Amino acid sequence: MNKFGLLSLACLAWALLIAPGPWALAQPAAELILPPRPASAGMDLIQALEARQSTRQFRAGKLGPADLSAILWAADGLNRVDGRRTAPSAHGRRYLDIFLVGDEGTYIYDAPGHKLILVNPANLKGELGSQAHAGAGSHLLVLVADLARMGGSGEREYRFKNAAATAGCVAQNVYLMCAARGVGTVIMAGMRPEEIRRGLKLAPSQEPLYIMPLGHKP
Ligand SMILES: Cc1cc2nc3c(=O)[nH]c(=O)nc-3n(C[C@H](O)[C@H](O)[C@H](O)COP(=O)(O)O)c2cc1C
Repeated sequence: MNKFGLLSLACLAWALLIAPGPWALAQPAAELILPPRPASAGMDLIQALEARQSTRQFRAGKLGPADLSAILWAADGLNRVDGRRTAPSAHGRRYLDIFLVGDEGTYIYDAPGHKLILVNPANLKGELGSQAHAGAGSHLLVLVADLARMGGSGEREYRFKNAAATAGCVAQNVYLMCAARGVGTVIMAGMRPEEIRRGLKLAPSQEPLYIMPLGHKP
């Protein structure tokens, strides 16, 4: 199949799985290729900073692939040909994973492929946060650090500090892209770590740091 055929199939899978409607498939896809990220946010940086705010109430309706692609790329996508990312990380190491939780299952964001890989087909959206608004949006991001992937020496506290700083940078990237696209979000420390560990099938060295619901503003 040529490139165009593959792209059409990926878009069809997105339309069926992520977009709302009566066509949703019974089984989530093992892999979802995200559409290319937008060339522009449609808002300049000053306006996005002015619009940035936390949102805890969401209108019904799912975010589409264009919003999810833009938000995930902003979060920690590739922005240089050598594979470096939109968010900084200590020593440039890749210890932060972003999970996208939706009604159709939980996926991990693969930044080099700009795609989503299925982790758990169950609907975990309402189970991972300790506050009701965590599960009230269209999707939920979960930011997870693998302390074993941070390399070198360093106490656990030092690793945590670096991991939290990276997660904070990712979160602000998410906030700004959400602001530019009129999507609501909030960074939340209020989560259920054990449910996250189980549902996302985390290794013992992986630490859930924050969750971020995403959804249409009311
Ligand atoms: C580290 C951190 C943890 C937070 N945890 C939560 C949380 O658990 N639940 C929540 O609703 N908001 C949480 N927030 C969002 C703050 O409440 C919010 O940023 C603050 O009230 C300021 O509002 P603004 O973001 O609209 O400027 C958190 C923010 C930060 C930086």
